[in-house]
Amino acid sequence: MDARALKIEAARAALAHVEDGMRLGIGTGSTAEEFVRLLAARMREGLSIIGVPTSERTAAFCRELGVPLTTLEETPELDLTVDGADEFDPELSLVKGGGGALLREKIVAAASRRMIVIADESKAVQTLGRFPLPIEVNPFGLKATELAVRRAAEALGLAGPVTLRMTKDAPFVTDGGHFILDASFGRIPDPRALSSSLHSVPGVVEHGLFLGLAQMAVVAGAGGARTILA
Ligand code: 5RP
Repeated sequence: MDARALKIEAARAALAHVEDGMRLGIGTGSTAEEFVRLLAARMREGLSIIGVPTSERTAAFCRELGVPLTTLEETPELDLTVDGADEFDPELSLVKGGGGALLREKIVAAASRRMIVIADESKAVQTLGRFPLPIEVNPFGLKATELAVRRAAEALGLAGPVTLRMTKDAPFVTDGGHFILDASFGRIPDPRALSSSLHSVPGVVEHGLFLGLAQMAVVAGAGGARTILA
């Protein structure tokens, strides 16, 4: 199976958990977009849901395909969020934010009773840290925040390049108007310690460690989709 077929396979397995009338958090990224395509097709057959998108990109895609949307202001509690991940470990701790939507993704996941991760086997790791950790920061005081992030990591024995995410010649700007630092710290043996350390840095808006948020992953590989429970 090629990469796209695996994403479709994972998305299809997650769709089986979507029930009529659900309030759905809808993730961001290429795997989440396969989910939206399948969801839209099911809706044409009669399924009724309302969705909260995790990014402007997802919102636009949902509108294009006719998936009805609401906001967390109107619908602050969701039944289920389906989203991709950049990597996941056996406990379903995740790194997310490769698509730059980590802040809204985390807010939406936290507002949901359940989160299902959709991914292919290439995203599975024993220990998080293979994928650079996205850290969303306020543009004000960028250099000072970057230095504080490095120091917070160093206090935990973590070090490595921290780079400002760029698009062409300008910093990448998130839907919330922030920048993203991609931190290549390598293996993260204690994600909880790093999470609270990063949260203590003024200027850090959010980071891409999703801990205790996902209850299930449907992971597509050559032999089909397998389910992992947290
Ligand atoms: C976006 C994300 C995505 O879920 C993550 O990057 C995975 O994307 P893809 O399904 O395209 O591999 O966190 O912020």
